[in-house]
Amino acid sequence: MAVTESRLPPDFIWGYATASYQIEGAHDEDGRLPSIWDTFSKTAGKVEDGTNGDVACDSYHRTHEDIAILKQYGAKLYRFSLSWPRIIPLGGRKDPVNQKGLEFYSKFIDDLHAAGIEPFVTLFHWDLPDELMKRYGGPLNKDEFVADYTNYVRVVFQSLGHKVKHWVTFNEPWCSSVLGHNIGKHAPGRTSDRTKNPVGDGTREPWIVGHSLLVAHGTAVDIYRKEFKQIQGGEIGITLNGDWAEPWDPEDPEDIEACTRKLEFAISWFADPIYLGKYPDSMVKQLGDRLPPLTPDEVSLIKGSNDFYGMNHYCANYIRHREGEPDPDDTAGNLDHLFEDKFGNSIGPETNCEWLRPHPLGFRKLMKWLSERYGYPKIYVTENGTSIKGENDLPLEELVNDEFRAQYYRDYVGAMADAAAIDGVNVKKYMAWSLMDNFEWSEGYQSRFGVTYVDYKNNQKRIPKKSAFVVGELFDKYITKD
Ligand code: NOJ
Repeated sequence: MAVTESRLPPDFIWGYATASYQIEGAHDEDGRLPSIWDTFSKTAGKVEDGTNGDVACDSYHRTHEDIAILKQYGAKLYRFSLSWPRIIPLGGRKDPVNQKGLEFYSKFIDDLHAAGIEPFVTLFHWDLPDELMKRYGGPLNKDEFVADYTNYVRVVFQSLGHKVKHWVTFNEPWCSSVLGHNIGKHAPGRTSDRTKNPVGDGTREPWIVGHSLLVAHGTAVDIYRKEFKQIQGGEIGITLNGDWAEPWDPEDPEDIEACTRKLEFAISWFADPIYLGKYPDSMVKQLGDRLPPLTPDEVSLIKGSNDFYGMNHYCANYIRHREGEPDPDDTAGNLDHLFEDKFGNSIGPETNCEWLRPHPLGFRKLMKWLSERYGYPKIYVTENGTSIKGENDLPLEELVNDEFRAQYYRDYVGAMADAAAIDGVNVKKYMAWSLMDNFEWSEGYQSRFGVTYVDYKNNQKRIPKKSAFVVGELFDKYITKD
């Protein structure tokens, strides 16, 4: 990709991101009880390499090491998530609060501040207390889930709110809904695919879960704004995932339309209710009564509930429309997703993840698409990064010399600068995924997204990769000096 002259605004801030279950370990310490990911990862066949987050990066015991590398890399922000089952181990509104869990995070946040790093806190990054799944089906039961989630966030705002200025209600609700309740690749592993166990109804559950998460998000924001925002002065939003969709045949109007539908099924499912107060027409049309309608009260809670748009972005796909009636289990809008084009070229190089093909221009195009559709909201990139094909099998010297990842960041940060400077996108923060290698969900530890190598066999030792320094240099170059 061509080197760009574009620059980011002087108030732009950057850092790194992680999530509790992926890094903390200490799964049964100081009162923590299992989350749905503990249960799922310990079910045979769910995680490719048979691993789980029992130890992970051991960050629960190594907060000082994590803060030291953040400082060494020059990061100004750190996005991490709170483990609900550490704070309210059983999860529910009548269950006891675990002071040790709150104290752990309180001290960690103090230590971050002391190091000059702003905490950016995700309230829910998939580790639902397992008890709530067993009790009533978690987000499948909207009223119970919303009541318990909002009780949990109120406990957090009361205890940590004066120290935190940036909150994310939910990380990637699409993943909880579709990967968790249709494809079954993520916890709780529900799916219509009867060859898998436990089963669910993938034709209905994802839309029920999405509805619950939207209402829980809107209610949490309402609580924050009414009870805490004035005193604590923070901001709150949701983080949505979304890959860019590029038409397979740029001349074919049906492929172009399919791309829009793809973005709507992935992103606008959540973003349209938040910015426009309704579900996208394409979803209403395809899903009919399987998409639970938002009541007028819910619309008024949800519409306008983002102080910023949290954007997780990794890659792009070619999209081709598919003929015929949609399969009721189809959560993507009757489309084919393609990695290869008809001349045998891929939209981007392979990585260690089947779903991830880098295509930096897609980042810029998606920011523009979001900005036009939602009225140029303030965008915080809450995740962006890559794994590298076969990285896990390389000798250490090669593994830490991660030129592929370094180039990914050069290209993606450049594309973001073009989006800001040329397209007028209002992007203000960026957090690279990830500070360090960690538990990559159903891929286990084989896919390494970190700019820091974690030696899982040798006491979780952290060793910086080349990309860690490249990211710092990039922001030094791109952020306009005052
Ligand atoms: C998005 C998720 O939020 C994060 O947990 C995950 O590790 C990265 N994508 C990479 O797949």
